[in-house]
Amino acid sequence: MSAQEIEPISSLTGKINVPGDKSISHRVLMLAALANGKSEISGLSLGQDVQQTESIISALGAKIERKNGTLTITGGEFQQPNSVLDVGNSGTGIRLFTGLLSGIPIQTTINGDSSIQSRPMDRVISPLQKMGAEIKSKGNKGYAPLEITGKELTGIEYEMPIPSAQVKSAILFAGLSAQDTTTVIESHATRTHTEELMAKCGINIESKQGRIILRPSKPEPFKHYVEGDPSQAAFWAVGGVIVPHSHIEVENVYSGTARTGFIDVLHRMGADIQHNPETGTLVARSSSLHATKVESHEIPSMIDEIPILAVAAACAEGTTVFEGLGELKVKETNRLETIQSELSRMGVTIRVEEDSLIVSGGSITGGSVHSHGDHRIAMASAIAALVGETTTQINGWEAVSTSYPKFEEDLASLTGKST
Ligand code: S3P
Repeated sequence: MSAQEIEPISSLTGKINVPGDKSISHRVLMLAALANGKSEISGLSLGQDVQQTESIISALGAKIERKNGTLTITGGEFQQPNSVLDVGNSGTGIRLFTGLLSGIPIQTTINGDSSIQSRPMDRVISPLQKMGAEIKSKGNKGYAPLEITGKELTGIEYEMPIPSAQVKSAILFAGLSAQDTTTVIESHATRTHTEELMAKCGINIESKQGRIILRPSKPEPFKHYVEGDPSQAAFWAVGGVIVPHSHIEVENVYSGTARTGFIDVLHRMGADIQHNPETGTLVARSSSLHATKVESHEIPSMIDEIPILAVAAACAEGTTVFEGLGELKVKETNRLETIQSELSRMGVTIRVEEDSLIVSGGSITGGSVHSHGDHRIAMASAIAALVGETTTQINGWEAVSTSYPKFEEDLASLTGKST
């Protein structure tokens, strides 16, 4: 286990290109593996989660060539892999592959690390079984490892009981090989990458007023450039706002509205952030923040940004309340607990009340914290440490490589300490 020391800093300045979006990266790899022929992908996330997905499609028979940062993937027929498919730490990986593999005539076992083995899989198993899927938990019921025996599936109409793009996408990936139409009904909009990318690959899919209708078909080969990850841009946006004398520009960020809720919240808190959704440029400057209330219906559009928004709230005047955070309990860690415990260790007054997080603005002292293996807790702590009174030690720093191996290098470039 590695530890990282982060010192308080007087300013952050410069331009950053964040890694390719993680959610999009997983999906383009899966669609390229399904498409008959050569697809070309550039800008892919280099994080460990996406590397696991790349290894899985390769084990399933996709041919991958890499040249100057562009991947050429030849997909088509899937083969029976000769070992367990390992998603590592990736919830998106395991849930989407479970859907995709349910309708393909091979038998697979899919597993991940200890965090994955404690995350609920029933949310995908249950709708997929309604489509005719054969999925068995090999350990505890409803948890990975999962054994999937590909079957002929039938489309369903499924009303989402929770807002989850992973569940929606697992069903849509299964729907590609099902008989008849698959319809997913969402009462809260979640990220729309699966719908957008499937449409780009020529799949007959339409989305209207919360109803996503998919007619089974095979994706066509495609070319895709993966834009920057807004969830990573959020760390720099908050860093730029809370560190005095700062001016950070993040370029080329994917700007679909289901991902940019954090910008709305930061604006409401008084942050000086300019966002151009056309170009994907985000400019953040030091600002005085004040507290806000974030309501449940807003959460799906910033589901992964709560750790870093809690840091912004800790630097704001007044008490910020985030409501409706139940889903955070089943992320890479129980983030309601880990946000509360680690920010408390850094001197923040913060408490959990049922599914709400209540953060009192004030000063951040710094201290010794732990990522608990959660990349976003590690990076949110690092940004908080920049405005601490003393040096902060972040234990379990290696978790950052899950999504942002270049985080440290990018931070160094903004602090003027890069080599
Ligand atoms: C993701 C959806 C979200 C998000 C996760 C990535 C995706 O999960 O938290 O990091 O790629 O679809 P849920 O859909 O389960 O909320």
